Amino acid sequence: MRYYFKKLKNLEKASDLMKIAIGADHGGYELKESIKKHLEEVGGYEITDYGTHSTDSVDYAEIAFKVGNAVTNSDEKILGILCCGTGIGISMAANKVKGVRAACCSDYFSAKFTRLHNDANILCMGGRVVGPGLANEMVDVFLSTEFEGGRHQRRVDQITAIENGTF
Ligand code: RB5
Repeated sequence: MRYYFKKLKNLEKASDLMKIAIGADHGGYELKESIKKHLEEVGGYEITDYGTHSTDSVDYAEIAFKVGNAVTNSDEKILGILCCGTGIGISMAANKVKGVRAACCSDYFSAKFTRLHNDANILCMGGRVVGPGLANEMVDVFLSTEFEGGRHQRRVDQITAIENGTF
């Protein structure tokens, strides 16, 4: 009986899973793979991997564009994770996709507060900057922290107004 309930608890409907779009260039490939493994172990996520799938050299803009569109072109809430060598190029590219608020972070506090205050929808990290342990902690807090709203909503709306040319 106990086992039965345990099994039931472990059954997750696809609709209950939090949707994650993940991607990296060659500089972030290994970090992406390690984050994916971590999220699969934690469970509760439906992860779509937009590449790259090896350490062969690729251009980060293409991956940023795919993940940016996945995050913004959906009726469901989808959060993104992007990695390149520094996290910088891929975040710059992602932020050119309308509706993306990508934050390049290399510390836990920023990964948390960019959700609380900026309603960031993509976390970017550098595979040559942060180690896998810290990256997992940053991913966990980013994915589990809700936007605070309030005065921060006004500021996020101002970012959107700049994007729309209405500021
Ligand atoms: C690729 O060598 C590297 O330039 C890229 O991964 C990233 O760090 C760019 O910002």
